[in-house]
Amino acid sequence: MAGTAGAALALLPVAASAHAQLVGSSPAPGAVLATLPATVDLYFTEPVTPAGRGISVYGPDGRLVSNGTARAQGVQLTVGLGAAMDGTYAVIWTVIAADTHPSRGEITFSVGHSSPVRGPGLGGGDVGLVSPIGLVLQSLGRWLHFAGFALGFGAATYALFVAGDPRPMRLAGAGVALLLVAEPLALFAQTASFDPAQTFDGDALTSALASSFGRVLGLRVAAAILLWAVLGALRQAPWLRWSIPALGGALALVDATAAHGTPALPQPLGLLLNALHVSAMGVWVGGLAAFAIAPSGGFGRVAAWSAGLLIVSGAALALLHFANPLQVMTTAYGEILLVKLPLVGAALYLAWRARRRWELAALVAVLAVAAVLVSLPPPR
Ligand code: HEM
Repeated sequence: MAGTAGAALALLPVAASAHAQLVGSSPAPGAVLATLPATVDLYFTEPVTPAGRGISVYGPDGRLVSNGTARAQGVQLTVGLGAAMDGTYAVIWTVIAADTHPSRGEITFSVGHSSPVRGPGLGGGDVGLVSPIGLVLQSLGRWLHFAGFALGFGAATYALFVAGDPRPMRLAGAGVALLLVAEPLALFAQTASFDPAQTFDGDALTSALASSFGRVLGLRVAAAILLWAVLGALRQAPWLRWSIPALGGALALVDATAAHGTPALPQPLGLLLNALHVSAMGVWVGGLAAFAIAPSGGFGRVAAWSAGLLIVSGAALALLHFANPLQVMTTAYGEILLVKLPLVGAALYLAWRARRRWELAALVAVLAVAAVLVSLPPPR
């Protein structure tokens, strides 16, 4: 068991931070040089791994002039350049941050004089450093994953430990199905985030699977399959029921490595805070869905505790991700948080009025907004 846990830990990303952003480059953006340099060097806010080629440089005639895949060394990404001609060069970068989030961008520089930019370009309209369709797919994948987590682990925990009634267990099966659908979607979201035209490209998919993102995806699929197996074996081995909340907690930790790191906290504390938020979400949302099938008087206290934990851990996460209050109004991350808070307020009000179905609907909307939030770069 210790060996299995060690192997699983080794598969986790080494550090959870945020989306990698370009902070410097040689040549500098817009520079006009006398001769073509031997390499293009890009510097990021955190260590990166190249996605696909990592850096693609297109010459003034639109042809690819960079040699092979870029080399990563910590926060630096370097690629060698081939044939030189005068005019403007387009540099497109695609990287994966330590926390599995994809990001991409484009700069130009010129040799001798500027000229019209040729090459494929990024198509514009990027949101949160990825293509718009990539962001939509990422959010959808996370939403399904959170809903699957809540049903798979939360509803089963409610049925086994709160209501002592097997009827909501069918929700746990639906949760497994949602978890298993969410992961391929997350994979396509990753490739679409870099280049929508390569969403189903074999090389792009293989490269995504080989990255830290692929390792998280593998652990998530493994957790879903393990839950499936435990649900099937419960009749013969009822003692296995304890493994369901334990497995849920482990998956929440895996999820935490693919959310945003909290640079102001030691990494283990940040991961625990995030995992606590996700676990409490599972208990409240999954429990509520199960309550609709088999109501139990004990749920009120469980829901109140998990809602309390969500508010405290959520407030801590929000404080940790903003450097100043203005960023709530000036960043997409802040604006989405401002959409989430009234929805949380509505869910709490509906819980207080015991309007359970509407409470569940409000929480499903909270999950959708949380999925967008985690797909966007936080200010800090
Ligand atoms: C006052 C209430 C809340 C606040 C201030 C809050 C704040 C936050 C913040 C800032 C994040 C983003 C963390 C990151 O960028 O990595 C987050 C993530 C999340 N929140 Fe909340 N939250 C609250 C309540 C809730 C509730 C009620 C739910 C659902 C029932 C919920 C579900 C989630 C989920 C699923 C995530 C994603 C975590 C992950 O990917 O690991 N939150 N929340």
